[in-house]
Amino acid sequence: MSQSLSQATPQTMQAVQYSRYGPPEVLELRRVAVPAPKPGEVLVRVYASGLNPKDAVIRSGLFKRFSGRAFPKGTGFDFAGEVAVLGEGVADLELGQKVWGFLDGFAGGAAAEYVAVSQDWLSPMPEGISYAEAAALPLVGLTALQALRDKAKLQAGERLLIKGASGGVGSAAIGLAKAMGAHVTAMASTGSLERCRVLGADRIVDYTRTDLLSLEGRFDVFLDLYGGSPFHTYRRLLERRGRFVTAAPDPSIFLARLITRLLPGPKADFVFVKPKRDDLVTLTAYVEAGVLAMPIEATYTLETVREAHRAVAEGHARGKRVLLVQQTADAGAARQQHAAQVA
Ligand SMILES: NC(=O)c1ccc[n+]([C@@H]2O[C@H](COP(=O)([O-])OP(=O)(O)OC[C@H]3O[C@@H](n4cnc5c(N)ncnc54)[C@H](OP(=O)(O)O)[C@@H]3O)[C@@H](O)[C@H]2O)c1
Repeated sequence: MSQSLSQATPQTMQAVQYSRYGPPEVLELRRVAVPAPKPGEVLVRVYASGLNPKDAVIRSGLFKRFSGRAFPKGTGFDFAGEVAVLGEGVADLELGQKVWGFLDGFAGGAAAEYVAVSQDWLSPMPEGISYAEAAALPLVGLTALQALRDKAKLQAGERLLIKGASGGVGSAAIGLAKAMGAHVTAMASTGSLERCRVLGADRIVDYTRTDLLSLEGRFDVFLDLYGGSPFHTYRRLLERRGRFVTAAPDPSIFLARLITRLLPGPKADFVFVKPKRDDLVTLTAYVEAGVLAMPIEATYTLETVREAHRAVAEGHARGKRVLLVQQTADAGAARQQHAAQVA
């Protein structure tokens, strides 16, 4: 039997959906049934939902081979909110508990007042941050964590180069790499360099003025968060035991990964992030220790979701864009904080 705050949980909710692939204009705010959590799932009352490039790419239809042709579809992967209903078999969470996480795979749905989520894809939210701040972190934070810790096996004292350092994943990677004791070189455009320094980068490089291949010194790890950096072109930037990890792989990475496993010299790999409860707990510890924060560039609402998707598709992030899904005292505080930052 599932346990619920039944009086407080309505039958219907507002959710952003679309019924065909296309530009942001295909997104519509609809009234739909609140989903019922299956065994092992939690119904989360969503207060904030972070946006990622993945939202715009899937909506556009570029990944339709994976996302399929069944409509309507929801959008949004990152969420922060509170537990509204515990599905059968969920024992270690409580009704009303604050949680954060993201949806796995290609079916979004977090840009809605409620979302049913596997208990393995969420964890208790870090203390001391707002729902908006929490919703900005799960997908990018876990991408950075799984890339640096699991794929690159980054060690204290190693030299790390990050391409795309000022974006969501890059900002998280700077904080995590510094906490792991690495020396961080961040590549970004002119307007984002100072932000990378504030986030903790030891050295900043303006990619609009400096060719990557002209960089002096070699790196132990090259984290590519933009793409367009085939391993064979950039392997000369790496030490003999260096590791190249990309979050934006092109087809050449699969062969490079295979070949570099067989031969001596730098290794190539890619990351496909997975929402894992243990990793969200690890990320929580970094946030609560004050080493990981994600600046919010702008907030939107379910009504202004098209505008949010347009901004995300531009690709020059200065922090995260977040949907404030439902009003809370906390979301109000985040709005005021953002207004103060902009003013
Ligand atoms: N594989 C996975 O599991 C996974 C998970 C998460 C994300 N991703 C992918 O990883 C990438 C980064 O995600 P994100 O959320 O960090 O995106 P984001 O917040 O939009 O950041 C993208 C960054 O790319 C930089 N950039 C733009 N043009 C560039 C260029 N010509 N050369 C170098 N950098 C450039 C931008 O920096 P400037 O503004 O300074 O130009 C921006 O900060 C995306 O492709 C995303 O789809 C993959």
